[in-house]
Amino acid sequence: MEFVLYEQKGAVGIITINRPKALNALNSQVLEELDEAFSSVNLDEVRCLILTGAGEKSFVAGADIGEMSTLTKAEGEAFGKKGNDVFRKIETFPIPVIAAINGFALGGGCEISMSCDIRICSDNAVFGQPEVGLGITPGFGGTQRLARLVGAGMAKQMIYTARNIKAPEALRIGLVNDVIAATVDAEGNVTATAQENLMAAAEKMAAGIAKNAPIAVRNCKKAINDGLDATMDDALVIEEKLFGDCFETEDQQYGMAFFLDKNKEKVKEPFKNK
Ligand code: CAA
Repeated sequence: MEFVLYEQKGAVGIITINRPKALNALNSQVLEELDEAFSSVNLDEVRCLILTGAGEKSFVAGADIGEMSTLTKAEGEAFGKKGNDVFRKIETFPIPVIAAINGFALGGGCEISMSCDIRICSDNAVFGQPEVGLGITPGFGGTQRLARLVGAGMAKQMIYTARNIKAPEALRIGLVNDVIAATVDAEGNVTATAQENLMAAAEKMAAGIAKNAPIAVRNCKKAINDGLDATMDDALVIEEKLFGDCFETEDQQYGMAFFLDKNKEKVKEPFKNK
């Protein structure tokens, strides 16, 4: 693949959008390669994914404006569907996906981060939906996911004004879970950049998720996602089924037996995805 890199570190997979000369803007090829990258993740081995952007300046600076500039109405709609299909695949991917947002997350960049389960960013990150300044609406799910994440009022403000916000404001409104800064020593020298610390934090969180019972984690993701689209009564039935589905698995039997075992010398074995 030309624009997407994939690396596996134990049970954690890292997908990197790698088009730094265009600040990782999403053209059709990047979208197709992203789709392929997700399809090729080995779900027998990988239990959590991280999605990030190459370079130090940008996570993703949006959909490719050059490619969009000459589209007809029908082509625009098809391009929106192409992005929406890939982002929905990320949102409903069986295992959790953490967005490690290392700079600009504008337009399609903010939108792809919102299709991930969890967002953490470096302190130079900038978020926004600048589309109305380009004469279009957000087209890769922004009108829907931003309102669901930060509430309709704040989403409408961001989208109608096309004003970018910085990392601390993104944290304040709940768009990101955490903001990661550089580490500086007593003399004021940077000993680890925000980007390095961001990836370390994302990998630590991913490893923490990956060590938990995999069927349970997958079922939690499905219960939360499916429940958000349902009434509370239906959502609770969704939860009951996914909760019940965990029983009789080897991991449930082992996890509970381990808790109940009074032997203080015992050492917890890794969960087996069974
Ligand atoms: N599409 C295509 N190319 C892009 C791009 C984009 N979204 N964003 C940046 N680039 C390219 C620039 O054209 C430039 O290329 P050249 O070197 O060949 O000229 C390169 O990336 C570097 O960008 P800048 O020189 O502009 O870098 P900067 O530091 O001065 O500015 C920036 C950075 C503020 C992010 C600026 O690049 C910018 O405003 N980009 C566009 C952001 C945007 O409007 N995104 C929304 C797109 S619409 C969308 O996403 C629709 C949707 O919902 C599906």
